[in-house]
Amino acid sequence: MEIVLSGIRSTGHLHLGNYYGALRNFVKMQDQYKCFFFIADLHALTTHPKSQDFHAGVKAILAEYLAAGLDPEKVTLFVQSNVPEISELYVLLNMIAYKGELERTTSFKDKIRGHEENVNAGLLTYPVLMAADILIHRAHKVPVGKDQEQHLEMARLFARRFNNLYETQVFIEPQAFNFGSDLLKIPGLDGSGKMGKSEGNGIFLIDDEDTIRKKVMRAVSDSGPTVPNSIMPESIQNIFTLLKVVSTPDTVTYFTDKYNDCTIRYGDLKKQLADDICKQINPIRERIQTITHDGAYLRYVIEKGTAEARASAQATLKEVRKAVGFKSF
Ligand code: TRP
Repeated sequence: MEIVLSGIRSTGHLHLGNYYGALRNFVKMQDQYKCFFFIADLHALTTHPKSQDFHAGVKAILAEYLAAGLDPEKVTLFVQSNVPEISELYVLLNMIAYKGELERTTSFKDKIRGHEENVNAGLLTYPVLMAADILIHRAHKVPVGKDQEQHLEMARLFARRFNNLYETQVFIEPQAFNFGSDLLKIPGLDGSGKMGKSEGNGIFLIDDEDTIRKKVMRAVSDSGPTVPNSIMPESIQNIFTLLKVVSTPDTVTYFTDKYNDCTIRYGDLKKQLADDICKQINPIRERIQTITHDGAYLRYVIEKGTAEARASAQATLKEVRKAVGFKSF
């Protein structure tokens, strides 16, 4: 069975973009592939999160993954820092990752622009750690968004380079997993671009009904069309995109017709959108609350996932160490 792997940094709660863009597809994949899904807490350290808040961030994502329907009996769920083999592989891969190519990485160039005061080596070698995450489980497929494609390309490069240097075939070159028509790009509520964590833009899986309604009612719109069948501005298109994701086709047709004959009232549209988001999210939020308070279950999930992930990682690392030339006395 093909191996699929994905990681997410523990830097905040999951929003509808994470859910409809990736997580819902992960849930569908768990029967077809051998899946490794993990929380990249080491990657999250590049921005120096406060230690007293750190664990809560990891726990939140774990509970949200489980609440969304990932089944620990089917997939391996783990936390990156619980698998020290990843860190060891990271050290070894760092020896074949060149400063120039790391400095040229788009994400690094973007990051240093915003954070001149914290251009640390972890940020520079971010793609090396990500390659270690992927290569340690010899994953075939990695679902990635556009922003991560270059990192995946580098994982392939390091795999190839390592295999050539040590005359081994231990690593597989991972390919991008393409969701095809299942890939939904979820726009934000602030009128342009995709949903993210920023204020006024995202709806989180933990948001209660009141919060969801307030956020949706405040979503950027305009004063409405005055000419029949006019082209929608981006902010309105975004509201319709969200509606298509959470509502029935009939509802979408109803409001599209209203837009086209200029009788639409955005208040009604937003109220419908909020209702339908709540309908989808309420059961997930309730499960998040239950799971978050079930320490025994979370411990069970992590102990199981850690054991599975470490077994897989140790098998790879054994071959890697042999290829490099480590020997016991
Ligand atoms: N860099 C990814 C992101 O920011 C998170 C990540 C870390 C990841 N390691 C990974 C994704 C391995 C896929 C595979 O979204």
